Amino acid sequence: MCGIIGYTGNKKTVPILLEGLRTLEYRGYDSAGITVSEGGRLATVKSKGRLSDLEARLAKSAELMGSCGIGHTRWATHGEPSDTNSHPHATENLALVHNGIVENYAEIEEMLKGAGYTFVSETDTERAAKLLDMFFAKSHDPLDAISRAIKVIRGSYAFGIIFKGQEDTIYAVRKDSPLIVAHDDEGGFIASDIPAVLKYTNKYYRLDEGVIAKVTAHGVSFFDEKLSPAEQKTETIDWDIEQAQKGGYPHFMIKEINEEPEAIRKTLEPRIKDGVPYFGIEALDGEFLSQFSSIHIVACGTAMHAGLVGKAIIEKLARVPVNVEIASEFRYRDPILRKNDLVILLSQSGETADTLAALRHAKAQGVYTLAIVNVIGSSVAREADSVLYTWAGPEIAVASTKAYSVQCALLYLVAIRLALANGKLDNEAAKEICSSMLSQIPEAIESALSLDKQIYDAATKLVAAEHLFYIGRDMDYALATEASLKLKEISYIHSEAYAAGELKHGTISLITDGTPVVAVTTVKKVCEKTVSGIREVKSRGAFVVSVCSKELSEQYDIPCDEMIVIPQVSELLYPFPLATVLQLLAYHVSALKGLDVDKPRNLAKSVTVE
Ligand code: AGP
Repeated sequence: MCGIIGYTGNKKTVPILLEGLRTLEYRGYDSAGITVSEGGRLATVKSKGRLSDLEARLAKSAELMGSCGIGHTRWATHGEPSDTNSHPHATENLALVHNGIVENYAEIEEMLKGAGYTFVSETDTERAAKLLDMFFAKSHDPLDAISRAIKVIRGSYAFGIIFKGQEDTIYAVRKDSPLIVAHDDEGGFIASDIPAVLKYTNKYYRLDEGVIAKVTAHGVSFFDEKLSPAEQKTETIDWDIEQAQKGGYPHFMIKEINEEPEAIRKTLEPRIKDGVPYFGIEALDGEFLSQFSSIHIVACGTAMHAGLVGKAIIEKLARVPVNVEIASEFRYRDPILRKNDLVILLSQSGETADTLAALRHAKAQGVYTLAIVNVIGSSVAREADSVLYTWAGPEIAVASTKAYSVQCALLYLVAIRLALANGKLDNEAAKEICSSMLSQIPEAIESALSLDKQIYDAATKLVAAEHLFYIGRDMDYALATEASLKLKEISYIHSEAYAAGELKHGTISLITDGTPVVAVTTVKKVCEKTVSGIREVKSRGAFVVSVCSKELSEQYDIPCDEMIVIPQVSELLYPFPLATVLQLLAYHVSALKGLDVDKPRNLAKSVTVE
């Protein structure tokens, strides 16, 4: 979703804003703009398109030398991507950038029309800017104007604002959309995410909802809703700037896939004590867990697919029923939540609006909530009853890869802990699984990475496809759902994941000569059945890429045109190297097509609107 950056300090602001916006490109955008405080006026330059379009426009206008400014990349919600709809939205008195949605914009527009305001854009943000302008025109006090405006605005927002008359100061406030504030020796920043400021400092404040930040070259001050001074906690991020860069890889996605062994190690090692899962959270380590008679895993997209893996492993090991729920559906369908239910929220960013809304719904019903999140201090992490962090480090590519693998790994640990708590696994059996996870998963992923050339060759056969199917059964089906999403989002090839046994109930009518089918076979107990499914599509002309375990490839004659064999690992652990292989396959198809792998069209990394 939209990216916000703001800088005020001793340096020229334009290069800092552009660089910051570049680090936020991964969030997805279709236009960009900046406002710079320039000799007592606010100069705004904005453009539809990429940052290069904005830079071209800046090159044509008089050079902006000011040292305070705000910048924005817009992911269109209200109104098409256009120069006029881009941010910042400026008035006589101020310039404002926004991430989120002002839900009552129509009501605000009516109110403003009554006060004589007119509008040039279709955006909700222009209405917010003019509302603020109306209050500021009365009091000439930025803090007063902001506090009045946010009492009127309904919806989600992260705002960055510069006011005329205070051209060296940036104000910021947020609700349900992320925003951080930072400061180094030479100036202050606001940003949607940490990579935008990481070059200058690794210390930042994650702004609490409703708190207004006032950022100057000399420091930061915070104000609560009554405009009394407020305290905000400094946080320190232990990533370095290299982690947020490509480090020699052509794309973030391939870099992040290659980081999976390390991410898994970092996630698992501190969570296994005396051979069994240990989370250091009272509610998760003791008997408390045995009270839960059913579990809801709620998430979106890739995280929801990790939930399907979680369901399979929790039901297998702990024998507790699990529903996997799409977060955007969850609260609106009024789910039946009982006292003894556990709701697990999965999210890489921890800022996904649908997941956050689902979490709030579950909490309002009095149900215990556990968040599994990658971004420290994010909204989902802060609001859930307990949080387990997946230590994947920054994930920049829009297509989630390493975050998925570590979510699955943590869900395995939760499954083992639950199984111990309710007596479905004894200590020895739990220890054995944990020890094989630690010793085998990182290595198995390394082996999967070494199949890269073979996977690339298979990808060359899929590049021209318009439609494609992934099939598998049981856990393989769970993996197929994610593989299919990965391919769709970055290669723009339409694909569907099907439970191999379900194909014959309708979808097989779509299989004709040459239709590509990626068949996943690692689950022994259903392999024979999956192979029958593969024969059915093969005999109708499908071009089959088989992705199978070493063991099953030796045991069965799998009919196929291409075969990728996953080196041997304990059967329970195949999902990990399998995920890597399927991610690499999608990656190579996209790269071979010459597409923007890391920033696929229309997509945003962190979807902060419902
Ligand atoms: C992942 O490849 C997708 N871009 C997307 O489905 C993502 O997983 C989803 O939006 C959820 O994001 P979250 O994990 O940050 O909550």
